[in-house]
Amino acid sequence: MNEEDKPKVIQDCQTKFEKRIKKATTADEVENLRIKYLGRKGEIRKLFGCIQEIPPEKRGEFGSLINELKSFMEKKFESMSEQLQNLSTSSTKEKPYCDLTLPGVPFVMGHQHPISQIIDDLLDIFRSMNFDVVSGYEVEDTFHNFDALNIHKWHPSRNPQDTFYVDPEHILRTQTSAVQIRAMENGSLPLRIVSMGRCYRRDASDATHYPVFHQIEGLVVDKNVNFCDLSGILTEMMTGVFGTRVEVRFLPSYFPFVEPGAETFISCPFCGGKGCNVCGKAGEIELGGSGMVHPQVLRNVNIDPTIYRGFAFGWGIERIAMMKYQIDDIRLFYDNNIDFLEQF
Ligand code: DAH
Repeated sequence: MNEEDKPKVIQDCQTKFEKRIKKATTADEVENLRIKYLGRKGEIRKLFGCIQEIPPEKRGEFGSLINELKSFMEKKFESMSEQLQNLSTSSTKEKPYCDLTLPGVPFVMGHQHPISQIIDDLLDIFRSMNFDVVSGYEVEDTFHNFDALNIHKWHPSRNPQDTFYVDPEHILRTQTSAVQIRAMENGSLPLRIVSMGRCYRRDASDATHYPVFHQIEGLVVDKNVNFCDLSGILTEMMTGVFGTRVEVRFLPSYFPFVEPGAETFISCPFCGGKGCNVCGKAGEIELGGSGMVHPQVLRNVNIDPTIYRGFAFGWGIERIAMMKYQIDDIRLFYDNNIDFLEQF
């Protein structure tokens, strides 16, 4: 049957529908039309309601024309809603909603770790005193970490219970003093170096011990250096770190690679030596070892001890940081607790 032969009611319904659906541009408009035509009280239902008015012999044909129109509409609605859906998702992809009046998202700034801060301070201080900054190896051989430093085969610090062995000849360095040997092997004399970095010992961790920690090592080798020069350098170093004048005191002590060797104290920067809680009323704080390089150590690296002398020092950086910031537990440096780190 062609268009002209369609009963007028069906034809009118189709024409109106086509006009209206062309104008619909939003999902809501399409949905309203769907309800108007296909809903329970919609136009298609009304057409079916007219069937009684049709002569019985034409009813079958009339019914199938309505069904045709109905499925035509259904297909139209289906394709329209697909189109609108694609339109809405692609438009949100291209133009994300952006409210320019919203306040900005605060940018969380990182903090320098307190140990890195002390290292940077120390670097500034030693560069200003014309020291070269050198680095060594964290995996070191036993010659540089022990033998060349005059530490005998039977020395307890070589015990595998105290030192991390990689193999019988290689360890995780237990002290930055190993860098002294490398610097004397490689450098030309006179020498004036500092080195900072990680050291490792098989210590159980507690408030004052941790299996990894940092040391600063200093070494000067020249023809005419002595304990007074050492004292001057250490005074400058600690005055720089604490920002107030400190005094250095040496207490004779034994380290195999220095002779004489000393435990080194500074006057308490918080009470000026009067005694306070930080220094435990002692008026001074012990910070590390130092001394004049042992002649045998110089010989081990082919330096003639009758011509050259040296002084050296090796201090724990955590210990310096603990004093400066009054931290009573070394483990806090390694816990990665943001609340702790943000205070520096
Ligand atoms: N290396 C020593 C240690 O870890 C510290 C030390 C003492 C270093 C005396 C030195 C020094 O350079 O002269 O305990």
